[in-house]
Amino acid sequence: MRIAVCPGSFDPVTNGHIDIFGRAADLFDEVIVATGLNPSKTRLFTPGERIDMLTEVCREFPNVRVAGFTGLLTAFCQEQGAVAIVKGLRAVSDYEYELQMAQMNSSLAEVETVFIPTSPEYSFLASSLVKEVAMFGGDVSGLVPDFVRERLITRLDERKRSGA
Ligand code: PNS
Repeated sequence: MRIAVCPGSFDPVTNGHIDIFGRAADLFDEVIVATGLNPSKTRLFTPGERIDMLTEVCREFPNVRVAGFTGLLTAFCQEQGAVAIVKGLRAVSDYEYELQMAQMNSSLAEVETVFIPTSPEYSFLASSLVKEVAMFGGDVSGLVPDFVRERLITRLDERKRSGA
């Protein structure tokens, strides 16, 4: 049984992420989509909310499950018996940082990183840009699932009203 972990912040999950989940699910027996903590990012959704949205979108993939982790990604992979970390690569600009993380992770544990090139229609897509576009009233349909778009708009409205 070959298990892979597909980690990320997923704040929120986009159609680009879902494309990678499905393609990783074709390559491995089991895929664990795992939301972790990126200390350099501020978050709009709580870990529980992100897990809920991921669970909803992963329902279509029978061999994908969703989890959260708080410590090191490599510790989580070891705990789960995962042989690989799957990351989507949008552009050359992603590669430098992703390569550094892959090498750091392989120095910490026996785990390979597998890069999947993002489908061209999603190569510009990033959760941070989706949030920014939605914040300024832009239409993000087609970039995230409809229910995610609704939650995004609701959360941004709440934030605006509370002055945060
Ligand atoms: O979607 P992101 O923000 O690029 O995801 C980054 C994430 C959460 C996968 C990464 O920050 C991570 O692995 N965090 C866990 C802590 C860790 O293991 N850090 C060392 C990375 S080399």
